[in-house]
Amino acid sequence: MYHLECIKCGARYKADEVIYTCRKCDGLLDVVYDYSQIHLTREDLKGPLSVWKYKALLPISREPITLKEGGTPIYHMKRIGERIGMKEAYAKHEGMNPSGSFKDRGMTVGVTKALELGMKSVACASTGNTSASLAVYGARAGIPVIVLLPQGKVALGKVAQALIHGARVISIKGNFDDALRLVRELCIENNIYLLNSINPYRLEGQKTIGFEIADFFGWEVPDRIILPVGNAGNITAIFKGLNELKTLGIIDRIPMMTGIQAEGSAPIAKAIKSGAAAITVEEHPETVATAIRIGDPVNAVKALNAIRMSGGTAETVTDDEILAAQKLLANTEGIGVEPASAASVAGLIKLRKMGVVGKDERVVCVVTGHLLKDPETVIKMCDKPIEVEANEKAIERVLGINRMAGIKAR
Ligand code: F0G
Repeated sequence: MYHLECIKCGARYKADEVIYTCRKCDGLLDVVYDYSQIHLTREDLKGPLSVWKYKALLPISREPITLKEGGTPIYHMKRIGERIGMKEAYAKHEGMNPSGSFKDRGMTVGVTKALELGMKSVACASTGNTSASLAVYGARAGIPVIVLLPQGKVALGKVAQALIHGARVISIKGNFDDALRLVRELCIENNIYLLNSINPYRLEGQKTIGFEIADFFGWEVPDRIILPVGNAGNITAIFKGLNELKTLGIIDRIPMMTGIQAEGSAPIAKAIKSGAAAITVEEHPETVATAIRIGDPVNAVKALNAIRMSGGTAETVTDDEILAAQKLLANTEGIGVEPASAASVAGLIKLRKMGVVGKDERVVCVVTGHLLKDPETVIKMCDKPIEVEANEKAIERVLGINRMAGIKAR
């Protein structure tokens, strides 16, 4: 029903080979299905959203290792939309997944695949969320998990998750790109299953974000999907999934895939803006959005293709723009996300101002991780709680409440 295929030279590999890049040319691999054998209609896809609802397009035959991932809400951003002059701005809150990020979609599929392939242990490098998610699903599967993290650059909530769910947590004196290089060698030499987004099976789970967006709108896809981009797996996966729906005749067009990167770590956005065929590696990536602090995105080739083929674009945002968008989303819409996730909304605001996003477009920003992943950044950015004596008068005084006039409007 499916096999692995190199996107560069077209070499084919059997579905049960443990392989991450092409043996002939080192190109990235895709899971390719025999679409003529998949008979899936809109009718078959009635019912609530979830990752495993789309199992006809997932490369798994055994019972999944699952915590009921996916089915995340899509919220209308009415107030932010009004501010930037558009009616149809939405946020898909991937922070509402079991471990608080979109990575769970990839890990439910990836860890299940590890068991299907007979692998006994799993590992990844991570800026935090991938490690948290792998720790969760490894615990669920009952297999050992090893995670490599860039020292001092992982948000507190994510480290806490990796630790309590029982991963072996290794802190590397280097950045994410170093950690990924190391874990790839470690996995190949020690027969450990690698679950970074270079693993094409993990990306299969992540493509369900695209399925759910199309499904939510009754298969009328939005004009544009905006995502924060780090290692560039997610934008790639969503694009692939939507193309599959188009091949099957379930949707009739592909939204403009739009990637947002932090100014200090923006190899993909720079390549798109300059029209370069390939990225230039950013040797010293830096941003407050540590989740996307990546200079050498492993899926760059696929992501550039997804953006260009869909008529989308990529843009950079500053750390200040990211934090302002995070605060705006929390404060005016009640949607709490981590900094990297707010990059998509910061990108929407910027692209709307530039006139790239039209006022009548229907746009979905994927907000990728929960606010509580990174409490330290929030605490630094917000005013401290006001300390008062334990009496009512003192509280009214600091609040400036006038008993006659009541409380000031927000
Ligand atoms: N948003 C969040 C919250 C992330 O954690 C990541 C990636 C991204 C966006 C970017 O997604 O890599 O598919 O382009 N985090 C990875 C990790 C790198 O290790 O948790 P991408």
